[in-house]
Amino acid sequence: MPSAHLKFDHAGDKVASRVTKMRSSAVRDLFAAASRSDIISLSGGMPDVSLLPPESLQTAVQAALGDERAIALQYGSTNGRAETREMLATLVRDLGIRCKEDDVLITTGAQEALDLIAKTFVDPGDIIITEGPTYLGALQAFSAYEPNIICIPFDEDGMRMDLLEEKLEELGKGAVKFLYTIPNFQNPGGVTMNMERRHRLLELAEEYDFLVIEDDPYGRLRYDGGHMIPLRALSDDVIYLGTVSKTFAPGLRTGWIIAPRDILAKINLVKQGTDLCGSAMDQVIVEHYFTDTPWQAVLQTFIQTYKERRDAMLEALDEFFPEEATWTHPAGGFFVWVTLPDYVDTDSMLAVALENGVTYTPGSGFYPNGTDGKNSMRLAFCFETPENLREAIRRLANVIEDRLELYRAFLEAGAI
Ligand SMILES: Cc1ncc(COP(=O)(O)O)c(C=O)c1O
Repeated sequence: MPSAHLKFDHAGDKVASRVTKMRSSAVRDLFAAASRSDIISLSGGMPDVSLLPPESLQTAVQAALGDERAIALQYGSTNGRAETREMLATLVRDLGIRCKEDDVLITTGAQEALDLIAKTFVDPGDIIITEGPTYLGALQAFSAYEPNIICIPFDEDGMRMDLLEEKLEELGKGAVKFLYTIPNFQNPGGVTMNMERRHRLLELAEEYDFLVIEDDPYGRLRYDGGHMIPLRALSDDVIYLGTVSKTFAPGLRTGWIIAPRDILAKINLVKQGTDLCGSAMDQVIVEHYFTDTPWQAVLQTFIQTYKERRDAMLEALDEFFPEEATWTHPAGGFFVWVTLPDYVDTDSMLAVALENGVTYTPGSGFYPNGTDGKNSMRLAFCFETPENLREAIRRLANVIEDRLELYRAFLEAGAI
């Protein structure tokens, strides 16, 4: 029975129009659905935090609860604790990025950085460009500010610069606010932008006058080949986003923005209205983890483990998936992107996959319109053991094969 005091539909007629346009993330919905213990999940991009050594965690947490607890429990400055920013500046310098403490603003995960950037730069109707498909959390963050998002496809060498250039020519100079890219081991594509394209992107940014946002959560998780120079190392105009979520722990919600200082000042203003400051406790723990513990050795364990899992997934795909399917071959990160024939709808297939004990993330969630990518899916190899990954791919291959057979039967019956 509705309460006598209920004068309107709370979730309906009072919410802002931008919220009514928001779609729930298929991944978040799935986390709820996929709690059955016999289901093998290929859907979430969760790091395997069980690989973190308890001693390292104790060292870091002890610092926050010991001598530094008065700081850790207090409000901090909006751009983050100076010592933590100094540590992060040191950390990114070995990626080739020129950076000082004052070039860094700490955020509540890279996710908050995406929101703050959109809040700072995007007016309704502004054009922004992303890879297509792209990180669905970025689409969620950007969409709240009602931009017009244009997607540029990628191939195994990252965003297609020829298609980008065509689009920019069509739109004209100054038409695009910013371009958002995940150059290393893209989420969801797993692909990496090659050096030639990185240089070309920066040339185009100058020529057509748009900002470049480089999101790099996976850059250190490389399993083959050498280090790729970040865009930010090639140009100080690039806005670079980092996070400890994939190299340490996402529960600590610590990310950062490196940007020209006038831009950081604007973002700082915006952040004041969002949360005053991030968690000082998290920042102290992160700082001590990367200062006082053998984190590089732990990173090697992450790399070794994820590499084995990636190999297990790629081998199983080769063994079990139908020849009509194609997929990317990531040199790092967490994800493989699979493309199936046009007539396979991975949204509706998900329920069948769940019944068969496996989940994946349907491709449509990684596009702003929710209609592209229907015949594709993202498979995460980061969280399950090699044995489970093999079994999951076997199960998924059976589900796909059933769909293909159904289609073949329709075709024979002349129904298509
Ligand atoms: C490309 C990308 N950007 C940002 C994030 C958000 O990271 P954080 O946990 O730091 O908020 C993720 C998380 O999966 C991601 O894949």
